[in-house]
Amino acid sequence: MTEARIAVVTGASSGIGRATARELAGRGLHVVAAGRRGERLAELVEESRTEPGRTIPVTGDITRPGHTEELLAVAEREWGPASVFVASAGQGLAGTVLGSDPERWAELVDANYLAVLRQMRSVAAEFRKQAEADGGAQVRDLVVIGSTVGRQVSAANPVYGSTKFAVHSLVEALRQEVCTHNIRVTLIEPGFVRSGFQESAGYDAAWFEAVAEENGPLLVPEDVADVIGYVIGRPAHVHLDDIRLRPTRQRA
Ligand SMILES: NC(=O)c1ccc[n+]([C@@H]2O[C@H](COP(=O)([O-])OP(=O)(O)OC[C@H]3O[C@@H](n4cnc5c(N)ncnc54)[C@H](OP(=O)(O)O)[C@@H]3O)[C@@H](O)[C@H]2O)c1
Repeated sequence: MTEARIAVVTGASSGIGRATARELAGRGLHVVAAGRRGERLAELVEESRTEPGRTIPVTGDITRPGHTEELLAVAEREWGPASVFVASAGQGLAGTVLGSDPERWAELVDANYLAVLRQMRSVAAEFRKQAEADGGAQVRDLVVIGSTVGRQVSAANPVYGSTKFAVHSLVEALRQEVCTHNIRVTLIEPGFVRSGFQESAGYDAAWFEAVAEENGPLLVPEDVADVIGYVIGRPAHVHLDDIRLRPTRQRA
């Protein structure tokens, strides 16, 4: 029997991260599920009890330097070195350059850019160390959630979008830096997904429902999780490195 892969998923208390944690446990991976809201993680663990893979929660703020190393250390202590890391933690921000709340810019950049960069660096360093030890015999996956607004400028959402533009460039750069070690760095670019994101971003509910009416049915987090499960399940020599998925009726 092949041994279960071990995964860390950030942003696992809600939306895409939560659905991904479920998806991976369903595929038999053992999952460290991270987020700030412990009660939401406890619910996830309870719901995941019947899955073939095990799930354990770790609460913490991803913007704190050293947090990623702690998550990797928990995985290693529980089961062994992680070979899958999904960076889903992130925040939205409603509004344009003139219309968004400047008081929230620093928090947004910290969570969506600096924390992602730190996660990528820490995970790539760990994966490269593991690969040097086993000669890259095992494939390793770092999956980062970008956005369609990190590829196409959104006049409605440029401040948030710019954090995703930055992340997209990091993903491709890191992919090139570590691919020869059999490390797959993958960008997932979702369009509209109905999740906790709309509330945390501060979207006007009536505006969002109009968007949903025009573009829907919108994606649900499980749609994105399904794609992530597929990507990491490919044979070691196959890398689907950049995937955009949108609701079928979403124009831009
Ligand atoms: N929903 C969409 O339409 C959409 C589209 C494209 C891309 N995305 C991206 O997809 C990713 C996941 O978003 P989602 O739709 O799943 O939203 P969500 O339901 O609001 O989930 C966001 C997750 O990020 C975590 N998080 C936020 N700030 C954090 C921090 N400082 N430290 C630790 N965890 C933090 C939240 O957990 P806690 O609050 O418990 O910490 C939560 O689990 C984000 O990167 C987002 O930008 C979303």
